[in-house]
Amino acid sequence: MIELIREKNKKKVAEASAKIVLQEIKKKPNLILGLATGRTMAPFYKELVKRAKKEKISFANVKTFNLDEYAGIREKDKESLRYFMNKNFFSKVDLKKENINFLDGKARNFKKECLRYENKIKKSGGIDLQVLGIGRNGHIAFNEPGSSIKSKTRKVRLSEETRKVDFGSLKDAPEFALTTGISTILNSRKILLLTFGKEKKKAVQNSLHGKISSKVPASFLRRHKKVIFVVDEACYD
Ligand code: GLP
Repeated sequence: MIELIREKNKKKVAEASAKIVLQEIKKKPNLILGLATGRTMAPFYKELVKRAKKEKISFANVKTFNLDEYAGIREKDKESLRYFMNKNFFSKVDLKKENINFLDGKARNFKKECLRYENKIKKSGGIDLQVLGIGRNGHIAFNEPGSSIKSKTRKVRLSEETRKVDFGSLKDAPEFALTTGISTILNSRKILLLTFGKEKKKAVQNSLHGKISSKVPASFLRRHKKVIFVVDEACYD
């Protein structure tokens, strides 16, 4: 079941989403929180940091797991998703370093690394709340169209569309990434997908009302019991 929350604009989407996350932390201070990257997430993290400060909510007992990372890219590289997280969120809250979990894009053995990550999520007790964005082609994390509902954490080839959108040009973009799978995401107890802008309208429509199919990976979210979509008017009218 997907609950749809429609907000006026990008700012309101960020505010409403930050509120949902903070409510969960208030209920469970040692929340296991799944996090996402992307342009959509920048205003959301900004709002989350601001509100947490204002309401004096601490992340000291929260554990985080990010969804994905580019393969072959180091944590320190500006293109890495870890870099994005450090800059937009990790450096701004009182999360403990040992409670931050990330896929290592520079791991020697990607299979082992993906298994390690999948097991670490399980050992932690599983994700309580997974935050998600959505790609223009309906991808979630780096589960591109064609991904199976049973998929787990693995190395994937990125679509040309995703590489162009994320990096501007194909020549600068990595070809592969490590990503948690659709089944990894669906194992979360609650899922919050936030998005805005007309570029995402088709993806949102197809996810909510189209056929549930691997052609639109986000449509698999309809198989989950507790999903909230927070969208703006531009991507849902
Ligand atoms: C990226 C990420 C996704 C993200 C999506 C949308 O490739 N792997 O986790 O949700 O694409 O990104 P953006 O928010 O920049 O539109």
